[in-house]
Amino acid sequence: MKKTYIVSLLFVILLGIHACKDKGKDVPVDDAEQATALVIEEELYRPNFHFTPMKGWMNDPNGMFYLDGYYHLYFQHYPNGNKWGPMHWGHAKSKDLIHWEEMPIALFPDDMGYIFSGSAIVDHENRSGFGAEGQVPIIAFFTYHNTDMQKEGKVDFQSQAIAYSLDEGSTWTKYEGNPVVKNPGIPDFRDPKVVWDKEGEQYIMSLAAGQKIRFYGSKNLKDWEFLSEFGEGIGNHDGVWECPDLFPIKVHGLDDEKYVLLVSINPGGYNGGSGTQYFVGDLKDGKFVLDPLLQGKIGNHHDYWVDFGKDNYAGVTWSNTETGDSEKLFIGWMSNWQYANEVPTEKWRSAMTVSRELKLISKNSDYRLSFAPTKALEGAKSKKIKKYGPMSISGPMELMDSEPIPLSSTSLSFTLMNAKSSSVSIKLKNEMDEALEFGFDHGDQTFYIDRTHSGKTNFSKDFATEPSIAPRISQLESLEVTALLDKTSIELFFDNGTTVMTEIFFPEQPYTELWFTSSGEKAQLYNIELSELKNY
Ligand code: FRU
Repeated sequence: MKKTYIVSLLFVILLGIHACKDKGKDVPVDDAEQATALVIEEELYRPNFHFTPMKGWMNDPNGMFYLDGYYHLYFQHYPNGNKWGPMHWGHAKSKDLIHWEEMPIALFPDDMGYIFSGSAIVDHENRSGFGAEGQVPIIAFFTYHNTDMQKEGKVDFQSQAIAYSLDEGSTWTKYEGNPVVKNPGIPDFRDPKVVWDKEGEQYIMSLAAGQKIRFYGSKNLKDWEFLSEFGEGIGNHDGVWECPDLFPIKVHGLDDEKYVLLVSINPGGYNGGSGTQYFVGDLKDGKFVLDPLLQGKIGNHHDYWVDFGKDNYAGVTWSNTETGDSEKLFIGWMSNWQYANEVPTEKWRSAMTVSRELKLISKNSDYRLSFAPTKALEGAKSKKIKKYGPMSISGPMELMDSEPIPLSSTSLSFTLMNAKSSSVSIKLKNEMDEALEFGFDHGDQTFYIDRTHSGKTNFSKDFATEPSIAPRISQLESLEVTALLDKTSIELFFDNGTTVMTEIFFPEQPYTELWFTSSGEKAQLYNIELSELKNY
């Protein structure tokens, strides 16, 4: 393993030097060093199966829709620098949610402001009237953020606007009647997400407004009227509410339909900084009402979070997918505002999570969301699948193989049969003794990710001060675990995704060793499977 790594490192250094030769003339040493550093960064940190922009800054996913075989993903983007700046909507499309093709920028800032987060829908019925002669218009909703007005001390510097595309999302025309929702005097007023409300026969726009969500209704997508607001005294209020997503979903296995409301909050996340909480209820006459089963349960410190790790923010769902009415497709931004601008990559900054299928589960007089990695990842598994076990472990044990599977493009899964009496911890290690650890503590039924010794951590004091912790929601005796490992990220789906944790890390060498340890009773591990995700 070590040899392979050194050989590939030498190879990328040579590539870097080669990249610096300008038609036979050597470029200055500094430039050569920088080019080499960029090539190493590309090799060491550019994810294998997660979306990253080719260059520049990225934050929230925006405007996702599916049409004619393509999933479209737009994103908050500053193409001219690797820190947050004047926001554009970048664009990428994919047939399978794994291989992304980056497209030209979709929306540029203009006189009315930067283009902040929002959503898109496919207007099949041409209710907007933007489609001519059988063309299906796609309508994008976004926030104009006007920095001049902000500097002048005005409060109404954010307003909602629309743009439409008649070529399946490639090019966009901004509506001349913008803004379509004016600012009512609320400084944080943004991130429109639009959904069709069958019963009310209207579109509903959810908007973050300070620490509440406001709902607006429209029949033609251009004229919007205020309907109601939600959030007073419910949920976490330690920060600003952002990026709401309201959608109907059938309860898994039942016929009942509920409305789920995702609300991102920054700060206030379960382990600090950014995080996304959720609410389950009903939509009645344009008003979102929390389900009686959840009344009183979702206070300031609650455990209704989309993800308990530090790196899944501003996530929302796709529109117009074919997932059926008891599943939605979700993607989030794999970073945290505490340190997003400082993470140690130069050419690009940040990645998205894998796309996830979201379900609503009703159990024990409660409603919970569960998330599973998109089924498309099954197709990405190479023929290299290793199965081990069953194993009974106590002290540290290395999982060795004569043909090891690299740990940077991998799915690891196993079942801990005795989760009531045994704890388990898994460590990924490299030869510099850098390690990423995660696991489960049976005593207090919690999960954790510990990246405090994972590699580069000191770029921010908030990145790795202590391990992140998550509560176990399930009460089953057996615990199923799936971990998706890329070069710089881990996504953990516990108990079939009832508790999820996502975090990023930056080792100085790839991790090559995989260790299991247990405490309490011996851990009974079944169905251990390690597969290489090869199809990138
Ligand atoms: C969330 C957010 C949004 C805003 C965007 C700006 O991460 O703050 O509320 O629209 O980022 O880039």
